[in-house]
Amino acid sequence: MLPSTASLKQTGGRELKRIVFDEQTIARRVRELGQEITVAYPDGELLVLGLLKGSFIFLSDLVRRIERPLQVDFLVAASYGADTISSGNVRLLYDPETELRGKHILLVEDIVDTGKTLNRMVSLLRERAPRSLEICALLHKHLAQHLELEPAFVGFDAPRVFLVGYGLDHAENFRHLPYVASLT
Ligand code: XMP
Ligand code: MG
Repeated sequence: MLPSTASLKQTGGRELKRIVFDEQTIARRVRELGQEITVAYPDGELLVLGLLKGSFIFLSDLVRRIERPLQVDFLVAASYGADTISSGNVRLLYDPETELRGKHILLVEDIVDTGKTLNRMVSLLRERAPRSLEICALLHKHLAQHLELEPAFVGFDAPRVFLVGYGLDHAENFRHLPYVASLT
């Protein structure tokens, strides 16, 4: 059930339209992704790199479903202001301290939209000479005209509308919702 309109107005200023992926559906798919990733990496050091802030809930659920040794670190990039339209400006605000060279890097992203953020991150990470680089995205809008690297692991194909919840925000609101919903 959607939270009450009154509470959403207080925190978000925008209202939710409908739940697109509910809690159970997400949990089931995240478990499957964990298994896919577990069997995809038979050997070598695996570093799961979360792109903040949007991936924080997905990443924390996902790593608990990966049954092999791994390390976790984060990247902070900012591509959006308070608006729902991509500015195309991707800034790196935090760089991982963990050594990337020689490791399998799995970049975890909340959503692939125009692909600008990912393309920037992929070229940046490739300069660090990882053993391999793959992307795991919870949601993929399939809008990108050019992706440097197509995500090897995708949770769901997403409708081409603005989505919030399960880590995704609108002006920093709605990240805490346990499901993914569209905005009105
Ligand atoms: P690009 O366009 O660079 O965008 O692929 C990737 C980043 O932009 C944010 N983004 C969204 N955030 N709902 C959100 O809450 C959306 O529908 C959406 N589309 C893009 C997101 O942070 C993503 O990492
Ligand atoms: Mg955002």
